[in-house]
Amino acid sequence: MPTVRAEKLYKVFGRRAQEAVRRLENGTPRDELDGATAAVVDASFEVRDGEIFVVMGLSGSGKSTLVRMLNGLLPATAGRVLVDGRDLTALSKSDVRQLRSRRMSMVFQHFALFPHRSVLENTAYGLRVQGVARDERTQRAEEALRLVGLDGWGDRLPGQLSGGMRQRVGLARALAADTDILLMDEAFSALDPLIRKEMQDQLLQLQADLGKTIVFITHDLNEAMRLGDRIAMMRDGRIVQLGSADEILSSPADDHIARFVQDVDRSRVLTAASVMRPPGKTLAASSGPRASIHTMRKLEVTEMFAIDPDGGLVGIVTMADAVSAAARGANTITSAVSDGFVAVAPDSLVSELFGPSTGDRPIAVVDDRRRLLGVVTPAAILGGLAHTKEVTTDA
Ligand SMILES: Nc1ncnc2c1ncn2[C@@H]1O[C@H](COP(=O)(O)OP(=O)(O)O)[C@@H](O)[C@H]1O
Ligand SMILES: [Mg+2]
Repeated sequence: MPTVRAEKLYKVFGRRAQEAVRRLENGTPRDELDGATAAVVDASFEVRDGEIFVVMGLSGSGKSTLVRMLNGLLPATAGRVLVDGRDLTALSKSDVRQLRSRRMSMVFQHFALFPHRSVLENTAYGLRVQGVARDERTQRAEEALRLVGLDGWGDRLPGQLSGGMRQRVGLARALAADTDILLMDEAFSALDPLIRKEMQDQLLQLQADLGKTIVFITHDLNEAMRLGDRIAMMRDGRIVQLGSADEILSSPADDHIARFVQDVDRSRVLTAASVMRPPGKTLAASSGPRASIHTMRKLEVTEMFAIDPDGGLVGIVTMADAVSAAARGANTITSAVSDGFVAVAPDSLVSELFGPSTGDRPIAVVDDRRRLLGVVTPAAILGGLAHTKEVTTDA
C-alpha cells in the first residue's frame, strides 16, 4: 500500500472554487477563471513507502499548496488524499491532527527557532507539545542532533549557529518526532551551494540508514535529480510528468520539459542501463577457436564476449587470442578468455563509468548473476548525453 496517495486533487483559491473545478474539468484554461486561482489542478500520484518523492517546479507552480494538502493543513477543493489508506478529506479535524503528528513531520525553508532556548530544547519542542516525558524528549532530541551531525551542540543557543546548522536543527526537530514520513518544503533552498550539497548528501545518507518516506519540494532541477527516486514535474498547478530523473531526461513529456532539462549534467543522472546497447552476438565459452575466428570475421569485429551455458559472462576473447588458441590446438576458447573489460551494474552512473582504471576497455553491463545485459560504448554515451529529443525553439 502506498504511504501517501493523491487522487484528482484540486485546490482553488478565491471565489466559487467548486465551480472553478468543474470548469477546469471541462477544459477551461486555468488563466480564464476570473477571480479564482487554481493552485493545484488534477494531481494524482502515490508516494511509495521508503522513497524520496520530489515535487519540482518553478515558483508559483503549486508545490507548497500541494504538500500542505498532503498533510491536511489545507483542505482540498476537490479530490482525495489518502494516508495509509485513510482518506484525510473524510476525517475530523482532530483526527487529521492526530494522524499528522503520528505520521508526518514537516521541514520548511524558514522555520522559527526559539532564540532563547537551547538547540536541544528547540529540537525537542515538538515532543514537548506532544506530551512526551522530559527524559525521553532529551534522549530523542540528542539522537536526532547526532543524526544531523550536531552532536555536542545541544547546549548552544541558535544565535551561535551558522545558517546551515540552524537548518539542521529544523531537520533534527523533524527526526526527533520519529515519524515515518518527512515533508520537506524547500528545506535547503536558502543555503549556499556548498552547504546545500552537504545537506543533500546527509539526507541521502539518513534516507539509506532510516528508510524514511520523504516528499521533498524544490525549485532546483539539479537538487531534484540528485535526490529524487521519482520526480513530479509541476507547471501551472499540474503534474506534467512523473518519473525517475533518468526517464525525464531520456523522454521528456513535452518541449517545455525538454528545454528545461537540457542543461542538466546528464552523466550524473543517466545510468549504464539507459545508455547501453544490446549485447549483440556472444560466443559460447565452449566454442572452438576456429569457429570463433570465423564468427568474428563474419561480424567484422575483433573481440567478443564469451558466455557460459548459464548465460554468465566469462570474459572477452580477442581475435589475436583466438588465433593463438587455434595455433596451440586448443579445443575451446576458454583458455583464450581474458578479463580485459570492465563489468558494471545497470544502475551505475555514467559519470562513474570512465576513469583511470577503465581506459578504453569495453564496458559490460551485468546483473547480479553476471548475465550480460548490454554493452556501453563511447558512442552510446555520447548519444545518451546528447539531447534525446529534438528541442524546438518557438521563442
Ligand atoms: N492562501 C492563498 N490564497 C490565494 N492564492 C494563493 C494562496 N496560496 C497560494 N496561492 C497561489 O497559488 C499558486 C501556487 O502557490 P504555491 O503553492 O505557494 O507555489 P510554489 O510553492 O510552487 O511556489 C500561486 O499562484 C499563489 O499565488
Ligand atoms: Mg513554495
